[in-house]
Amino acid sequence: MKYDFDVKIPRENTNCVKYDLRKNVFGNPDVLPMWVADMDFATPDFAREAVMERAQHPVYGYHFKDKPYFTAIQGWLKRRHQWEVPTEWMSFVPGVVCGFNMAVLAFTKEGDEVVIQSPVYPPFHHAASSHQRKLVYNSLKIGKQGYEMDFDLLEKQAKTAKMLILCNPHNPVGRCWTREELLHLSEICLRNNVLVIADEIHCDLVLPGFKHTPYATLSQEVADHCIVFHAASKTFNLAGLATSTAIIPNQELRVTYNNYVEALEAHLGNIFGKVATQASMEKGDEWLEQLLDYVQGNIDYVSDFLKANLPKVKFFKPQATYMMWLDFNDYGLSEEELWRKMTQEAQLGFNRGSDFGQEGKGFFRINLACPRSTVEEAMRRLKTVF
Ligand SMILES: Cc1ncc(COP(=O)(O)O)c(C=O)c1O
Repeated sequence: MKYDFDVKIPRENTNCVKYDLRKNVFGNPDVLPMWVADMDFATPDFAREAVMERAQHPVYGYHFKDKPYFTAIQGWLKRRHQWEVPTEWMSFVPGVVCGFNMAVLAFTKEGDEVVIQSPVYPPFHHAASSHQRKLVYNSLKIGKQGYEMDFDLLEKQAKTAKMLILCNPHNPVGRCWTREELLHLSEICLRNNVLVIADEIHCDLVLPGFKHTPYATLSQEVADHCIVFHAASKTFNLAGLATSTAIIPNQELRVTYNNYVEALEAHLGNIFGKVATQASMEKGDEWLEQLLDYVQGNIDYVSDFLKANLPKVKFFKPQATYMMWLDFNDYGLSEEELWRKMTQEAQLGFNRGSDFGQEGKGFFRINLACPRSTVEEAMRRLKTVF
């Protein structure tokens, strides 16, 4: 079956964050919205059919996640990432952000140091600062080929840090970390007893030619010192169904974590998220292959367009995620002036780079999970104003 990602689906007036909050966020309700990390593509037919079938039953009461649900996730992780995950390692968590916040609360105390590799997804910053933990910035470095981890700095920071939240692959810079990079990081964290929380929500969105390494597959010892989060939500556009998975190989960590989650009653979840996730993990391979080819086409289009028309905009091609991280610093404009030009003149709704950390000043993150015609329109607007 060939899926059609060119179709434009109106999302206005559906309480959709990306479209219906434009006025609040950009001060302009007419920006072309390419910000929040969900897709403008239809959630795939097999996920929607599973939801509709369950919706036919007239009772929407409490439910639990059964064996076929976890078997579907196991099958997916094995097929896609060659990772064998026993059922007992897995537990439900509504969202990955909720999950890593609970890990911060369960495994650190006030004043403890939590390392993040910025620029990085804003909730990584809040996970430490909202709970009075001390945020430690292991900022990424920009090398000739793209973003790299700063291992020398991490060596120093790991001496006193309690936890590191890893974004694998990385949002917004689009790096699919190599096995060697992850091994280096894990070696430093193990030696210093720093617990690694691996957010792997983008792992299925690794682009053609790259390969995701699940952090917990590096070694038995690494598996014993980490908590991993996975979800079908980015991959299959199910974010509104609030369904994700915590994967904890170490029994002691798992018991502590699950006690925490269960005390908050955060382990039950919703019936629609269960059936949509299960269907996606069972049937989603072909759809995902086609999606990744389409997204790669959008990335190639933007890359070629910027090189030909706006050479002052600097970027590295992403290796994973449907986002591009664009550097506008060569325009020599202040952040406020860039924001005004982008939102009011170009009428483009991209994420402001500094929301990902001060390293992102002068950058924008642009979401390319949308029809090619939207991408073309965005590039036209960009060229006219810049
Ligand atoms: C790295 C990363 N983690 C987590 C999330 C959100 O996860 P959830 O909706 O499951 O909380 C996002 C969404 O953009 C993300 O990019």
